[in-house]
Amino acid sequence: MHRIETISFTPESVSIIEQTLLPGEKKIVRLNNHLEMGDAIKRLAIRGAPAIGIAAAFGVYLGIKDSVQKDSQAFSKEISDVISYLRGTRPTAVNLFWALDVMENLIEKNKDKSPDEIKELVYQKAVEIYQDDLDRGIKIGEYGETLFKDGDNLITHCNAGGLATSGYGTALAPIFMAKSKGKKIHVYADETRPLLQGARLTAWELMEQGIEVTLIADNMAAHVMKTKKIDGIIVGADRITLNGDVANKIGTYSLAINAREHGVPFYVAAPLSTFDPQIEDGSDIPIEERDPLEVTEGFGKRTAPEGVQVFSPAFDVTPNKFIAGLITEKGIIYPPFRAKIEEFLKV
Ligand code: MRU
Repeated sequence: MHRIETISFTPESVSIIEQTLLPGEKKIVRLNNHLEMGDAIKRLAIRGAPAIGIAAAFGVYLGIKDSVQKDSQAFSKEISDVISYLRGTRPTAVNLFWALDVMENLIEKNKDKSPDEIKELVYQKAVEIYQDDLDRGIKIGEYGETLFKDGDNLITHCNAGGLATSGYGTALAPIFMAKSKGKKIHVYADETRPLLQGARLTAWELMEQGIEVTLIADNMAAHVMKTKKIDGIIVGADRITLNGDVANKIGTYSLAINAREHGVPFYVAAPLSTFDPQIEDGSDIPIEERDPLEVTEGFGKRTAPEGVQVFSPAFDVTPNKFIAGLITEKGIIYPPFRAKIEEFLKV
């Protein structure tokens, strides 16, 4: 499978693909500290749940790497400030909190070490989180591709490809893997209002990798299911609860309801770092609300009257009853989900 370098790093510098400029321009930008990384996460310059987790991990490193603090206690305080700032960047993708918890535990376990030793450990852990995510992407691709056959037509929503991860994707990984095994899959990509991750990122990624893709506006999906041969829907996730409810990009829920009506299997692909063992069901998932301007003035063009009220949730929750399977790096979880999810989450 081809890998996209969503994030690249050395101990001296961390850079990302500036996703807000795609597909027009593929620009790599260097981030110099945790504030710049946090801003990149908030602006969706780097986005997608696993990529947000990896970005946060490197954000911790960026926040401490140039510290001149020699006193361990004062250094610990600096690290906690960096971690709390990064925790406040985006609320829904649990991978962000997962990665920051991993960092916090690492620092707690090594609190007697010197600041320089801690910096080195934090860098190594960020690299490990990145590498693990690459491996998870390959495994999700391998398990997921078994669900699809040569000639299938799939629908996807938002972007859960290489750009949303360390490089291979979640929902797109099975499609990339199917291609590497000689299967021809055609994808309908929902454009994904209001920020157009489907149009700007998924269509771009699929075309770059030579996969046939047809772009549709979100409100066309039900009609496409009714009038075309659709064999499956595959999306990513920002948070999956113990009962198998799934938070993902706004519009996923209506896609799942439409899939049920048309007898199309609806799959979710996500690494286990996207599962939240603290939350029983989707009603407790915090849903990010975004700036109304993204709806009324998307990409610089005013498309609604001045002063109109706007509600702009960035995610919705799909109840588990609509989901045919959860594709993870350990295998596919089929309903009923509750006990199997707990089993999968055991280390
Ligand atoms: O707001 P975004 O672009 O970060 O939303 C991304 C999604 O909803 C993805 O589907 C999800 O994070 C899974 S990415 C592998």
